[in-house]
Amino acid sequence: MRIRKAVIPVAGLGTRFLPATKAIPKEMLTIVDRPTIQYIVEEVVASGIEQVIMVTGSGKSAIEDHFDYSYELETILEQRKKWTLLEEVKKISNLIEITSVRQKRPLGLGHAILCTKDLVGNEPFVVVLGDDLVDASIPCTQQLLNVFNEFHRPIVAVYPVSKEEIHNYGIVEGEEIKEQTYRVTKMMEKPAPETTDSNLAIIGRYILTPDIFTILENTPTGHGGEIQLTDALMELARQNQIYAYRFAGRRYDAGDKFGYIQATLAYALKHPEIGPRVREYLQKELCLG
Ligand code: G1P
Repeated sequence: MRIRKAVIPVAGLGTRFLPATKAIPKEMLTIVDRPTIQYIVEEVVASGIEQVIMVTGSGKSAIEDHFDYSYELETILEQRKKWTLLEEVKKISNLIEITSVRQKRPLGLGHAILCTKDLVGNEPFVVVLGDDLVDASIPCTQQLLNVFNEFHRPIVAVYPVSKEEIHNYGIVEGEEIKEQTYRVTKMMEKPAPETTDSNLAIIGRYILTPDIFTILENTPTGHGGEIQLTDALMELARQNQIYAYRFAGRRYDAGDKFGYIQATLAYALKHPEIGPRVREYLQKELCLG
């Protein structure tokens, strides 16, 4: 079955980036020349998704404005004959159809997904988390879709992390059934490192089937007093097979200060306009070889 919809939860407060995020959503922080959320939306578009469902919260309207048609801005750019900029601005509003639903209370990722039940309906869908940027030759979402087309079951993207990082992630235990692909046996949200031998962390890309909604409705609060998607997925794994896929690509945690700087440097170095100058600056002026 063809997957058409992507859910992107953007209701989080962004406390790790205060005070920068006091008045602007963390998803609107810029990496080189685009807000983080635009990289995410471009990834799903490049993977053939046709509709984005954003789960928003208060103070997040700048995200919806960013992807909306801006009559005023386009008219001014036209009058000033700024054709390249005009094209760039038009491209954003034409990227994809975006719908949104509000998560009225901060009850966790599982609850955010549950808020999309009516908009998703009875079909499999993708979930992409805005903090996780993945730079890959085949978009990470597309990689998961390829695995879904083989197994027709839910899939989570995973990535090996160090022992010290385990407590920051959902962790998957599983049996490797073919290269990069695991049959999930256990999932834990942010476990203590000594409670698992696995180092496979869930990175913010999932393919889910609509039966997850009934499970989420019955999932008790878990880690941090929130309704965890990981707990609901573990219940799903008890009922039927689910898979984890170790994707190819470089992942950046854009929701963390250091990860954000790493992403900024990586994308700046790749940027056609400023890349060579950034490289020269790092090499010569900062003496970074
Ligand atoms: C969420 C998920 C977690 C996952 C992480 C990836 O946690 O609950 O399982 O490993 O995203 O970024 P959060 O970072 O929102 O606390």
